Amino acid sequence: MRGPVLQGTLKAGDGSTGREVDTEVILRRDEVEQRVRELAAEISKDYAGRRPLLVGLLKGSILFLSDLVRNLTLDVEIDFISISSYENRSTSSGSVRLLRDLDRDIYDRDVLVVEDIIDSGLSLSYIQKMLEARGPRSLAIAAFLDKRARRTNDVNVDYVGVRIPDRFVVGYGLDYQERYRGLPHVAALGVEDLAGEEGVAP
Ligand code: IMP
Ligand code: MG
Repeated sequence: MRGPVLQGTLKAGDGSTGREVDTEVILRRDEVEQRVRELAAEISKDYAGRRPLLVGLLKGSILFLSDLVRNLTLDVEIDFISISSYENRSTSSGSVRLLRDLDRDIYDRDVLVVEDIIDSGLSLSYIQKMLEARGPRSLAIAAFLDKRARRTNDVNVDYVGVRIPDRFVVGYGLDYQERYRGLPHVAALGVEDLAGEEGVAP
């Protein structure tokens, strides 16, 4: 596994305030695409001959999930779970609430949970316990980004895209207050941008 790549800055226009937000590119688009292809190859090999159910965690996983399934050489099914563990802040609030459950039963299925990032591990440990109790044939986790330094809940992640330092990142599905999810790369937001936006009075 390789470390993060830091290269230069990129301006993401801030439509609501008119000012530009400085972001630092952590993973370029081509690096994201390359790593997803590698993960897809690994998963295709591991699940050869099976039809796994990919469970995406809304909303952050959607870009990773869609790129992943396009690159898999497997027939898969897709379902979604939505939880809230963040309450619109840049740090985890410590509690998890299930907002949307799966459509189908997962008993005796090969389930692969797909997530954008593992940070404290709170979300994935909750999901893991909840799904494990339903008797899947197998249960594995793929997280595109891993902020290992912040882990407080022990979770075994089977497929990790890239380990990143303890920075707040956006893009490739990840948001800051619901923005920047559509960026095709991963960028870190400056502390001043996080503090600045939260400090803006209505
Ligand atoms: P955990 O429960 O602390 O592992 O947090 C996982 C969730 O927090 C992810 O699914 C993201 O939605 C969110 N999150 C964690 N770190 C970041 C970040 O750097 N940027 C945006 N969202 C993040
Ligand atoms: Mg998330």
